[in-house]
Amino acid sequence: MKIALLGYGKMGQIVERFAVDRGHEIVLKISVDNRADLTTANLRKADVAIDFSAPDAAIDNIYACFDANLPVVVGTTGWYGQLQEVKNECLVRNNTLLYGSNFSIGVNIFFHMNKVLAKLMNNFPAYEVQVEEIHHTQKLDAPSGTAMTVAEGIIENLDRKIEWVNELVGTPFDDVLKKEQLLIESHRIENIPGTHTVVYSSEVDEIEFKHTAHNRSGFALGAVVAAEWLENKQGFYNITDIFDFK
Ligand SMILES: NC(=O)c1ccc[n+]([C@@H]2O[C@H](COP(=O)([O-])OP(=O)(O)OC[C@H]3O[C@@H](n4cnc5c(N)ncnc54)[C@H](O)[C@@H]3O)[C@@H](O)[C@H]2O)c1
Repeated sequence: MKIALLGYGKMGQIVERFAVDRGHEIVLKISVDNRADLTTANLRKADVAIDFSAPDAAIDNIYACFDANLPVVVGTTGWYGQLQEVKNECLVRNNTLLYGSNFSIGVNIFFHMNKVLAKLMNNFPAYEVQVEEIHHTQKLDAPSGTAMTVAEGIIENLDRKIEWVNELVGTPFDDVLKKEQLLIESHRIENIPGTHTVVYSSEVDEIEFKHTAHNRSGFALGAVVAAEWLENKQGFYNITDIFDFK
């Protein structure tokens, strides 16, 4: 496949390595310095685009792909407030988009098991639950998209939680947490690619369910696999559509 890379930072460069290893060709690389090259004509040289850019760039990039009728895989997080609008536009215009808060296979197994565990914990009201995420200090959004997916998986399955609230540790936080609120605690520490933990604690013990990314390779490989999966498909997809955990 011919691939356009929208965002050529830490993730874009690793995606390039995996894509080339798997026999694909990179025909366009867009970063903040050459945004003028993001034209319909240039995008049409590609079979698919992979976006790992920035929260404030992702929407423009997605619409540029729609204008060029180019399927796009979006790894960028921090734009999900506009997800419904983008989905509607994608479907109305018969375009193709696959997004995911986390492309790693391990995290997608973690997402699934998190839901199973949350359902089980309905039977054990003595346990309070909390989500924790740790990322490198350059991360622009908090909580992480992955932590939001984990929190939503809990809220969908654990009756005693109805919404999440975020505390970015080190910034002011004076909310008094209500029983039905789920806390996502965000930590920013140098050089951490991504760690997510779900903690159930009672007065007598604690259960920790944790995923630790050792590096960014799992996300990048997952994005290339997602681009391959998207070939000859049309519509709006999530990375979870690739996996069958039934
Ligand atoms: N879904 C996943 O599995 C996953 C995994 C890791 C990171 N991410 C997300 O991917 C995104 C990128 O992460 P990164 O670590 O590569 O960041 P990075 O800062 O290293 O790279 C960002 C790239 O985007 C470019 N960019 C920024 N603003 C732009 C603009 N207005 N127009 C065009 N290009 C622009 C920058 O020049 C750079 O090349 C973040 O949102 C991050 O949270 C997602």
